[in-house]
Amino acid sequence: MKFVITAGPTREPLDPVRYLSNRSSGKMGYAIAAAALEEKHKVVLISGPVAIAAPLGAELVPVMTGDEMFAVISARIDDCDVFVMCAAVCDYKPVHYSAQKMKKERAPFALALERTRDLLTSLTSVPRHCFVVGFAAETQALAANAARKLAEKNCDLLVANDVSRADIGMDSEDNELVIFFRNGAQKKLRRAKKNVLARSLLKIILNAREKSLTKKT
Ligand code: CTP
Repeated sequence: MKFVITAGPTREPLDPVRYLSNRSSGKMGYAIAAAALEEKHKVVLISGPVAIAAPLGAELVPVMTGDEMFAVISARIDDCDVFVMCAAVCDYKPVHYSAQKMKKERAPFALALERTRDLLTSLTSVPRHCFVVGFAAETQALAANAARKLAEKNCDLLVANDVSRADIGMDSEDNELVIFFRNGAQKKLRRAKKNVLARSLLKIILNAREKSLTKKT
């Protein structure tokens, strides 16, 4: 089966030396890619800038900004069976990019930001034949926010993680996941190493995809 998996943060430049980004390490997305490769699936890994190596056998497509990530996903999504949107996409970007390094001033400085595109919502606004897995990073009301994102972003399944804790989630080795299904069911995967969770998650994704295909036929 063919997987397209996004991972890591996106980066929105402000000037030649500065950017907006987030703490995503890419570890969860890379672990899912590795788990899929272990099971002999094909993987296109579309990744923002991270400090880890891509799993052997993945086709790595490095990107920087949300727009770049969107362009690459758009070109590849119709040729996959499972699309996993694990990347932590910046929600805002500077209104203006300064071609020169911005000089510091005495006066307080306010940065004008505008929303970036919501990649997942844009991608699922047209019918896709692939099974779509979204993620949610939450610090509060995890279940309510995740259920809303599952519906609003039109995913087949949504994987939520609590990013308020230092011991799991962003930039840590471990994670704890709650998986939300279209029929309202939830499944918790208890705290474990990201590569262990990724293997369980892969099984759950493929199972849910199988069920959704059976339903459609
Ligand atoms: N996502 C996306 N494009 C964005 C922001 C997020 O495609 N501009 C995707 C993420 O990859 C993830 C899902 O949407 O699969 C949820 O991301 P999350 O950061 O949890 O939520 P947001 O939609 O950004 O909402 P908020 O920041 O308000 O929680």
